[in-house]
Amino acid sequence: MPVNCVAPKPEYESKAPGEGLSGKNEPSNAAVLAYPQTAETQSVIQLRVFPIALKFEEVVYKVKLESKGSCWGGTWHGKEKTILNGISGMVCPGEILAMLGPSGSGKTTLLTALGGRLNGKLSGKITYNGQPFSGVIKRRTGFVAQDDVLYPHLTVTETLMFTALLRLPKTLTWEEKAQHVEQVIIELGLTRCRNSMIGGPLFRGISGGEKKRVSIGQEMLINPSLLLLDEPTSGLDSTTAQRIITTVKRLADGGRTVVTTIHQPSSRLYHMFDKVVLLSEGSPIYYGPASAALDYFSSIGFATSMTVNPSDLLLDLANGIPPDRNGGDQGENMEKEQKLVRETLISAYEKNISTSLKAELCNLDVNSFSYIKDTPASKYKKYQFRGVVYKLVASVQGAISEGIEGAAL
Ligand SMILES: Nc1ncnc2c1ncn2[C@@H]1O[C@H](COP(=O)(O)OP(=O)(O)O)[C@@H](O)[C@H]1O
Ligand SMILES: [Mg+2]
Repeated sequence: MPVNCVAPKPEYESKAPGEGLSGKNEPSNAAVLAYPQTAETQSVIQLRVFPIALKFEEVVYKVKLESKGSCWGGTWHGKEKTILNGISGMVCPGEILAMLGPSGSGKTTLLTALGGRLNGKLSGKITYNGQPFSGVIKRRTGFVAQDDVLYPHLTVTETLMFTALLRLPKTLTWEEKAQHVEQVIIELGLTRCRNSMIGGPLFRGISGGEKKRVSIGQEMLINPSLLLLDEPTSGLDSTTAQRIITTVKRLADGGRTVVTTIHQPSSRLYHMFDKVVLLSEGSPIYYGPASAALDYFSSIGFATSMTVNPSDLLLDLANGIPPDRNGGDQGENMEKEQKLVRETLISAYEKNISTSLKAELCNLDVNSFSYIKDTPASKYKKYQFRGVVYKLVASVQGAISEGIEGAAL
């Protein structure tokens, strides 16, 4: 049986993953379980979480551009646009999946679908520990939208306190909620601006990076097991971006499952991701370990002779631009070539990744993860899992299983 994920089991968690997520065994205000009553000494990152393994198979999303109707006595049928075209993958507790692609490639739509927030013609299968989306999953999911929606006249502390009062269970006292706010402020490095107003278009307040951290803090307050972030680093300098992703990584290391869309990460950031989904006009052209993406593309004939930031190459390819291409044809010819490159990449994905991924997802039993306490030995296993370089994703997954099973013997 393949063992794809190694995640630390929460210290005082006795349930198997998936148990307790059916909604039957948990009280309706389940978020209270995420917080010990005496939280003084615990950082938010160390709080226990219920591990959630997120699996998505063949996700297709279409929208109607025009509605059906009648015109001059005849009927005409509405046109459909395919926004997501058969996207599959899996994220385990402790992992960060980054979704890359040019603007308009469908990243936000896929993230919204994974967060159970997408209405309309969505097909395919999205499961959380093998279960469909439910109220319990919703309470355990944090969603940070791309645009920060915050009250400009509140200070950072007031904003977080307001969220805590609204979103934390009634069973916690005001003081306990204030304590959680305090932890989040410290954890996100917001101490310096805690008494500054958020600000808006008419008056200056905290910086863009600080606003983003406040938005992440609002979600951290509920101690989510699944954290979904839409372009958390867009518009920020690389140091601030690095700081935000480092916090996100620490959240993931605490056993949370993280999915983030990201526009153009620096190479430092890129290497902090475990897995990558690369989208081109709604179609996947890569899914697999972040560290294996360049090897994969060079194995199908898109090698680069220069040392590049991996995300630059991936974004070029998703736009249909082959490596080492500077300028060249313009206009119609260029469009044709881009279309051809995209088609080549999509069919290479079908051939090399899709089939084996589908089989792997189908055979995978979400309750079969090896939850290992985060001992030095397990860290080593985790390191092994992440450190191996694979030529193709098909061989990646087999090799991962073998590596971990071998190490477990
Ligand atoms: N409800 C909708 N109606 C029409 N077009 C949509 C709708 N939702 C998304 N789109 C289109 O789908 C494409 C992908 O959008 P989005 O997921 O926001 O891309 P990204 O986040 O990668 O920039 C865009 O071209 C967008 O205009
Ligand atoms: Mg977007």
